[in-house]
Amino acid sequence: MKKIIAVDGPAGAGKSTVSKIVAARLGYTYIDTGAMYRAVALKVLENGKSVEDVIRDIEIKLDEAGKVFLDGREVTKEIRTPEVSRGASDVAKCGFVRKKLTELQRQMATQGSVIMDGRDIGTQVLPNADLKIFLTATVEERARRRFEELKAKGFAADFEQIKKEISLRDKQDSEREIAPLAMAEDAILLDTTNLTIEQVVAKILRLAQA
Ligand code: DC
Repeated sequence: MKKIIAVDGPAGAGKSTVSKIVAARLGYTYIDTGAMYRAVALKVLENGKSVEDVIRDIEIKLDEAGKVFLDGREVTKEIRTPEVSRGASDVAKCGFVRKKLTELQRQMATQGSVIMDGRDIGTQVLPNADLKIFLTATVEERARRRFEELKAKGFAADFEQIKKEISLRDKQDSEREIAPLAMAEDAILLDTTNLTIEQVVAKILRLAQA
């Protein structure tokens, strides 16, 4: 059984959806590292302080139910807006932010069996993970998924705008200098464009149990 599972890939590839289900089926802890970058971005947006000031004294917690806490306040919903998505991609470029969150993420991974998703988990955060998955899908499909997700949550959504923002985030996340979005050499590539959530989950479960 693979005890430490790393899932990386671009925005909207289905990382958090499938990782949550896999974690529940295997009884593992799910760690959403994107939520941590989002929490940093939310604090910057709310306080108007510099990223340096914000990161110096910040407390980010993820609970077992998937709730996200920023300095003791629940921010699970607030971190999912398009504005915070843009901000997260921006703060994720800063070396000192990555250093702090990477340390926190490694510490979280020492607490038993985990499935952690993000952009640099297999390459930087947990290079010794037992199983590395790189989830991807076409930009059209990823934009369609985000569009449906935002609509379902009651946010006004424009498909073309979302596609543009996802393409921009892809570019920014994969071209940044520090820990860019990249597939680890020993990762398994899973293109989810034409797969259902259940099909992707089944593939990962098979790999985890191999
Ligand atoms: O997975 P997400 O969309 O919630 O991530 C939000 C942003 O955080 C994304 O644009 C890139 C950044 N991120 C990162 O750089 N490294 C991670 N391990 C996770 C997220």
